[in-house]
Amino acid sequence: MSHIRGRFSKPADKLVTQYTASLPFDRRLYRQDIAGSIAHAKMLARQGIISAAEAAKITGGLEAIRVEIEQGKFEFKAEQEDIHMAIESRLIEQIGEAGRKLHTARSRNDQVALDMRLFAKEAAADTLNGIKGFQRALLYLAEANRDTVMPGYTHMQIAQPVLLAHHLLAYFEMLQRDSERFIDLIKRVDVMPLGSGALAGVAYDIDREFLAKELGFSKVSRNSLDAVADRDFLLEYEAAAGICMMHLSRLAGEIVLWSTAEFDFIELDEAYATGSSIMPQKKNPDVAELARGKTGRVYGSLIALLTTMKGLPLAYNSDMQEDKEGFFDVVDTLLSTLEVFAGMVRTIKVKSGNTAKAVERGYILATDLADYLVGKGESFRAAHEIVGRLVSYAAEKGKTFAEISINEYKKFSPSFGEDVRKIDVKSSLDARNVIGGTAPKRVKQALAEARKLVGEG
Ligand code: ARG
Repeated sequence: MSHIRGRFSKPADKLVTQYTASLPFDRRLYRQDIAGSIAHAKMLARQGIISAAEAAKITGGLEAIRVEIEQGKFEFKAEQEDIHMAIESRLIEQIGEAGRKLHTARSRNDQVALDMRLFAKEAAADTLNGIKGFQRALLYLAEANRDTVMPGYTHMQIAQPVLLAHHLLAYFEMLQRDSERFIDLIKRVDVMPLGSGALAGVAYDIDREFLAKELGFSKVSRNSLDAVADRDFLLEYEAAAGICMMHLSRLAGEIVLWSTAEFDFIELDEAYATGSSIMPQKKNPDVAELARGKTGRVYGSLIALLTTMKGLPLAYNSDMQEDKEGFFDVVDTLLSTLEVFAGMVRTIKVKSGNTAKAVERGYILATDLADYLVGKGESFRAAHEIVGRLVSYAAEKGKTFAEISINEYKKFSPSFGEDVRKIDVKSSLDARNVIGGTAPKRVKQALAEARKLVGEG
């Protein structure tokens, strides 16, 4: 048995066999496919549709096939259309007639829907672990550099001082929401489609609840057409993965920037950098660059599957076989990115001296000066304008705020006094003592809360 040819009098064209086959990529579903078939055979026997002896033969045969595949002894034949046919035909080869009964009350349409749901459930669980591992690495780096100050930016211009830990915790939050997205979508993946048959349900007295229990699903699908025809559960994973990769890609961009000679905020561990084939001095942030690049591919898979699905009439259409390569690639890309990022982030050496020096530039305390004037009774808008003029004066003279005399200050506003000297980076950080702010004591609390969220509290 290869491609199903019962109604045909001649074999398929060789190129057609190749073109329509999914075996080269859906062989990854072998574990899910075998688990589904074992549950199905057990259920058929319980319902008296096949005998207990037949079910036992089928189960034994399938388990043997799993071992064959895992030991690399299974022969994936080019003439097999997909993993479902490959396993079934091997089973028949092994156990004979009983094997021919396995496909009773089942279609490859509900079979593949089941396999993909099982695969996606596992992928989502692995993703949650991957996210947690990466979040722990962020926390590790934040804790190890608890007191490091750096410039915060808006429009990529120096804005206000922030703690590096605060900056890293921003990514922690993004990943926390990513995590919630995956937890949420698991609910909708966790639906057992077997029993939907080709499209209309099956004409046997089967026990779908039993199948769900055997296979670890909490729900059974309510509509057979929907169960075989939609792939929204894959789209949701891909969308959540796209958002997560977007977050990782933004951090990647910052890591690339921070490791330039111009910024020089961090040093990547040698294990996470690569050299140039021509320029001996180069230490390239390839991991970060590639993560940024792979993000595009993940978006591509999402758009590809959305496009594949958008015009399909109910129920199953072969177009849907195109869901797999993109989905597997998204899962592999996200999981490997999370894992390699955890290692890269954990081993980053922060150059706190340089980040502190960077904070001295760009009149970063200008907002604090304005807030100071507000404290003296000026309106914020007036204070903003006064400090604006002061900055332009200082820039023209090539002076920092500290190099400006109190008399010079007073020319801009009589409200300035000696106490303006108390404004420094530390006072600026301390002042931002709001929930979610960068004041060191708030960041300390935030770190403790974050630790709890990843089970390190
Ligand atoms: N290889 C197919 C897929 O991946 C399995 C379902 C095939 N069903 C069918 N009627 N051709 O979608």
